[in-house]
Amino acid sequence: MDFELKTLRLPQAATAKADALVLLAGEGFTPEGEDALSALLDHASAAGDFKPEAGKLLPCYSAQGLATRRVLLAGMGDGSPAAVRKAVTAALGALGKGPAREATLCFAAPPSPAALRAAVLAAADACYVYTATKSKPEPCTLARITVGVPALNAALREAFAQAEGVARGVTVAREWANRPANHATPTLLAAAAQALAKGKGSPVRCEVLGPKEVAKLGMGAFQAVARGSHEELRFIVLRYQGAAKGDAPVALVGKGITFDTGGISLKPAAEMDEMKFDMSGAASVLGVFEALRHLRPAVNVVGLIPACENMPDGRAVKPGDVVTSMSGQTIEILNTDAEGRLVLCDALTYAERLKPAAIIDVATLTGACVIALGAVRSGLFANDDALAQALQDAGETAQDPCWRMPLDDDYAQGLKTRFADVANVAGRQAGAVTAAKFLQRFVAKGQPWAHLDIAGSAWKSGTAKGATGRPVGLLMHYLLGLARAGQTAKAPAKPAKTARRA
Ligand code: BES
Ligand code: MN
Ligand code: ZN
Repeated sequence: MDFELKTLRLPQAATAKADALVLLAGEGFTPEGEDALSALLDHASAAGDFKPEAGKLLPCYSAQGLATRRVLLAGMGDGSPAAVRKAVTAALGALGKGPAREATLCFAAPPSPAALRAAVLAAADACYVYTATKSKPEPCTLARITVGVPALNAALREAFAQAEGVARGVTVAREWANRPANHATPTLLAAAAQALAKGKGSPVRCEVLGPKEVAKLGMGAFQAVARGSHEELRFIVLRYQGAAKGDAPVALVGKGITFDTGGISLKPAAEMDEMKFDMSGAASVLGVFEALRHLRPAVNVVGLIPACENMPDGRAVKPGDVVTSMSGQTIEILNTDAEGRLVLCDALTYAERLKPAAIIDVATLTGACVIALGAVRSGLFANDDALAQALQDAGETAQDPCWRMPLDDDYAQGLKTRFADVANVAGRQAGAVTAAKFLQRFVAKGQPWAHLDIAGSAWKSGTAKGATGRPVGLLMHYLLGLARAGQTAKAPAKPAKTARRA
């Protein structure tokens, strides 16, 4: 998707030729110009055919005095980011089914930077089409969007550039999560990560470990999950350096189960295909690195992806087997379907060795989280209040929200076992929390750590089946916030002005 931002007032929008024009008008906007577009909006409103409610549309064709044939009047309510998102989704959803290849999105009144960001992200979302395993490309898709605002300023330019970068990241995450397991193997994920590091002057570096290196590191929990598959495991390490070399990085850990059959604790057949999305955490890490590569904020980030399949096989790990994790802790694998925490615990131990400022793991970890929070908010667990607050705030700003869940030690009771240091499952109660408690054992006390359970938010089921690209928006807002804070902290103090005292 190509985006362009330009100054566009209603009289110009009326006379400029476009493939399709979407006019975004909110509550309280009254057109004052003499131009044909203002007149159209005015008449349609007066007649009651156009309502400025978010998501309401009035399609017009070959309207008088307009250079563009296809014009959509789109209500954007109070102009809030949520309302703008609704409006753009509705408008481009309608246009996307038609023959238009390009569209101009024109704000009738100046949007806030946050509303502009929402428009770009919603447009990118609406225009994404999955094609990787189709024999014929989908006809008629919007490939280019011009966003017009009545007046441009630095804040809008920055918001636009940011949104464009984040949108690229979201698209990468959706694309990799959507690809079927036989087209997104651990090896192919590693190749995708390596591709992010290619190109002259790329700020990303990538290192890929295979079975031998992983064995040498002693990642016995990760290895146990991979045992049952003929696909080789990969441990992917991505590095982005945007700040000083010595600055502690943020470590992002993404669950990369490219297919989760459950292993010997086999899942039922119904909807098992959706377990191709079980590497959505990994896909979101790839997406974040795609966005970092374009936006180049002043932070250091390390991305870690343990990638493998979870399959039943003669060599597969069995319920009751005890394995030794990289941390040295032994784990009794009571249920081979609780595999996410097994690959993540070794990645967390690896992460800790990098002395990161924070570790954030992202995983489609538990069905219990879907029951608790549905598809609206991701589950957030953290051992650090400041980190939790920063992530929660980033989620609100990015319209990619999460909700903090508890980590009381009492929740860890059920993980006790006679046969190892810890079991990989507890009872049925509070499944999302006991999974988080398991992970917490692999993070040192003073190490700020957060866990995002995206089992409900990473993809949609049913007719709209597909990956959402979450939580790339949340993570990018968090990282962009860190970069801003770091830069203001490092900026030379302003020369003191002569003190004036009353
Ligand atoms: N990948 C699943 C979690 C999942 C389930 C995500 C449904 C989205 C929808 C995970 O590996 C898993 O199977 N978890 C088990 C854990 C249980 C065995 C303790 C679950 O949630 O049922
Ligand atoms: Mn599982
Ligand atoms: Zn899983």
